[in-house]
Amino acid sequence: MLIFNNKAGLKALLSEHKKANATIGFVPTMGALHKGHLSLLEASAANNTITVISIFVNPTQFNNPEDLEKYPRTLDDDVKKIQSVNENIIVFAPTVDEMYEGRTQSGNFEFGGLENQMEGSHRPGHFDGVGTIVKKLFEIVEPDNAYFGEKDFQQLQIVRRLVKNYNIPVNIVGCPISREPNGLAMSSRNQRLTEQERNEASVIYKILAEAKTIYRNEGEDAAKKYVSTAFSGHPDFMVEYFEIADEETLLPATAAKNGKQRAFIAVYINGIRLIDNISLN
Ligand code: PAF
Repeated sequence: MLIFNNKAGLKALLSEHKKANATIGFVPTMGALHKGHLSLLEASAANNTITVISIFVNPTQFNNPEDLEKYPRTLDDDVKKIQSVNENIIVFAPTVDEMYEGRTQSGNFEFGGLENQMEGSHRPGHFDGVGTIVKKLFEIVEPDNAYFGEKDFQQLQIVRRLVKNYNIPVNIVGCPISREPNGLAMSSRNQRLTEQERNEASVIYKILAEAKTIYRNEGEDAAKKYVSTAFSGHPDFMVEYFEIADEETLLPATAAKNGKQRAFIAVYINGIRLIDNISLN
């Protein structure tokens, strides 16, 4: 398996593949891989000649230094998991210096307002950091297809806007959320939960699913009220936001209910922040 730490080596190899008309699939990650990431790799490997995965904990997208410090870093394990999907997947695991060349700062991005909702309003600067690193990675890998999970649905829409704004010739593929058997959305942050917390956290999806039924039968206010009451019975949880928004604009869903809506949630369980979402259509 090929593992690159520097962009020049990776670019040289990929340019040879491109000359031979290979299609490049790309899965950007921050490592601590779980089955959700592996499903993105599988989708890429099934639809492209070459698959590249990046593993890079991007400092500029963390607005909380403790979150950055505690983010799990498990490169050896990650490589084994990648190998279990396909021996030919190429790994790009650069250092911060390799990506930022001594200037670890975000650019300023405008995503048509998508960046101001939910994650954007609770994590100032987060999407500037995501935009900065994803653009840099696309410039290095120049993929034909790039795969993102719908768990970070707002990020997925922002990346779609990024490639449109900068005319980056890549097809963005959104992939369904992978869940634990108890319904908990798979996330690298789940590694920080105790077994008991993991079990408890399954309630997030159960509440989202019930909120969906209530939304469809009784409307938005009833769904919001239900979520707030349901979490009040779980003192270990602190809900940061629960929003019902239009999938395209991410603005609060309109009363007319045109288009598609999704419910989005961010919850702290004993200080660990988890997000999830569910389609309401
Ligand atoms: O979703 C993630 O893991 C990250 O936000 C990404 C897209 C790899 C950028 O650092």
